[in-house]
Order: sequence, then C-alpha cells, then structure tokens
Amino acid sequence: MTDDPYHRDEQVTLLFGDTLKQLRTLPDGSVDCIVTSPPYYFQRDYGVEGQYGLEGTPQEYLDRMRAVFREARRALADDGTFWLNVGDAYSQRKAVRRSSHQEGLHGAIRGARESWVESRAAGRARMSSENLIGGRPVTEKSMMMLPERLAIGMQDDGWILRNRITWAKTFCTPESVKDRLSGKSEPIFLFAKSPRYWFDREALAGEDGDVWHLPASSGAGTHTASYPLELPLRCITAGCRPGGVVLDPFSGSGTTGEAALRLGRRYVGIDLNPAYHELAKARFAREVPLWPAA
Ligand SMILES: C[S@@+](CC[C@H](N)C(=O)[O-])C[C@H]1O[C@@H](n2cnc3c(N)ncnc32)[C@H](O)[C@@H]1O
Repeated sequence: MTDDPYHRDEQVTLLFGDTLKQLRTLPDGSVDCIVTSPPYYFQRDYGVEGQYGLEGTPQEYLDRMRAVFREARRALADDGTFWLNVGDAYSQRKAVRRSSHQEGLHGAIRGARESWVESRAAGRARMSSENLIGGRPVTEKSMMMLPERLAIGMQDDGWILRNRITWAKTFCTPESVKDRLSGKSEPIFLFAKSPRYWFDREALAGEDGDVWHLPASSGAGTHTASYPLELPLRCITAGCRPGGVVLDPFSGSGTTGEAALRLGRRYVGIDLNPAYHELAKARFAREVPLWPAA
C-alpha cells in the first residue's frame, strides 16, 4: 500500500487504508466539517483485513473510536463541527453477517450458512459474557449504550457536545424480536471543537429541530450500511462554511461526499476498502454535475 491518495482532483481526495493512519497525514485544522458513521460494534464483517467493529470487546471498540476521533479533532479547524451517527448493540450471543461489495450489489451472499463453530473460529461470533466494558460483562440482553458511552468519552477528550439528534427512521426493516419494541431510531451527535464555531441554523429552513424523520438508508443498493443522502446534506448545510472541506473518515459509498459536492464543498474520504472508493467515484460521476471539475 502506498501513501499516495487513491484519487485526487480539485474537489475530491480519496485516501485508501486504515483511517487512523490516514488521518495522521492530514494537516492540523485542514477540514471544516466532519460527517461520519463508523462501523457499528459487532454488526458486520466487511471482509477486509484491519476493519474496525469486530474488536475483542466493546471496550476495545470504544477506545479505538475515541482514538480515531481524537486524530480527526486535530485535523478539524478550530471553528469546525463534527456530526457522528453511530448505533447501539445488545449484549447477546451473536454471529455477524458477512457484508461485502458483492453482497451490496447482488444481494445476500448465497451458499450454506456458516455454523457457530466456523463463525467462532473466524472471530465472527461472540457470547454475551465476552461483552466487557470496564472489565465487566454487560448483562445478557441489555442494550450496551455504546453511542452514549462514546459521546461521554469524547467529552472527556475535549469535544463539546451540542446536540443529540434523533434520526427517526421512516422506513426500516421490522425486527422479529417479541419482548421489546423495534429499534427505529439512532442518534446523531453534533460536536464542536471550540465554544464558537461556524453554524448556519437559518440555512436548514424549517428543519432545525433535533428529531430528523429520514428513511433508513439511501437505498442506493451499493453499500449495505449507508445513510440517506439527506442526512449529510443537513449536517453540511448547517455545519460547513461555503467552499469548505468536508471529511468522512469512514467514507464507504461516498454518501457524505455526494452531499458535500452537491453543496459546493470539497471532500476528503477515507476507507479501507478500495471497492467502496470505486463505488463513490462512479456515484459522483453519475450524480454530481460537473464532477470532476474541468
Ligand atoms: C457504516 S460504513 C460507512 C457508510 C457510508 N456512510 C456510506 O454512505 O456508504 C463504515 C465504513 O467503514 C469502513 N472501514 C472499516 N474499518 C475501517 C478502517 N480501519 N479504516 C478505514 N475505513 C474502515 C468500511 O469499509 C465501511 O465502508
């Protein structure tokens, strides 16, 4: 792997590799706004070596996310904003699904389902007793409160938490579980680096409350964990100065990038999977007029 950008033009820089390593290459204060959704804890196997989300314990996951976001904070301008969408997980016996570029394009991977023993051997299966936070297992069946724990940890790292927006999902797959309610919302945290930061609330024109009714995903069918375009559109509209630079350290199919380009901002995206950068480039070419700029 080289340290050259995967792609660079006047509007877009795509960096390929581990995000913590790639973030270290960004100069201090060089981005104006960060909008991202990291891999959730024990939700998916992206099938790429070095991927986040399958750490040995939720505590390791939280520590790793905090380390990534401390580095992102260094790269953020003093008057910048950071919008973080992250979901929770239950403490339960669980094997994660494999998720890939191919799956995103062509539906679920066909073939025999992996057995529990095979999943364990591949590091894709976990018992609730292994869900350690602060050295103790989270009680079986309990929500682990990972978004909240991460947000509190980030406050300890110096971030100023300004909003906890509720993303109320208007369309999402019902859950089969019978002894609790279906999870139909996720948090989006708005953090600032300094007490005074660039924010254009007026630009949201009537959408300025902290409950956002948006579909579950962009439905683009190209990435199994993408958020809807409207989500980063709102974050960037309010939280990034015109002409500024938007960073997504977990770029995936480039939903944040498309939003940034549509709004006349520049984009820096980082991902460990080159197939996703290819999806993002194809998407910008298809959806963004005048990309790349002549
Ligand atoms: C939840 S998805 C992001 C989806 C994105 N918002 C979109 O619209 O498609 C998380 C992404 O993080 C990437 N990823 C996982 N581990 C990574 C790592 N160590 N460094 C960089 N990217 C990583 C995955 O390849 C995946 O694309």
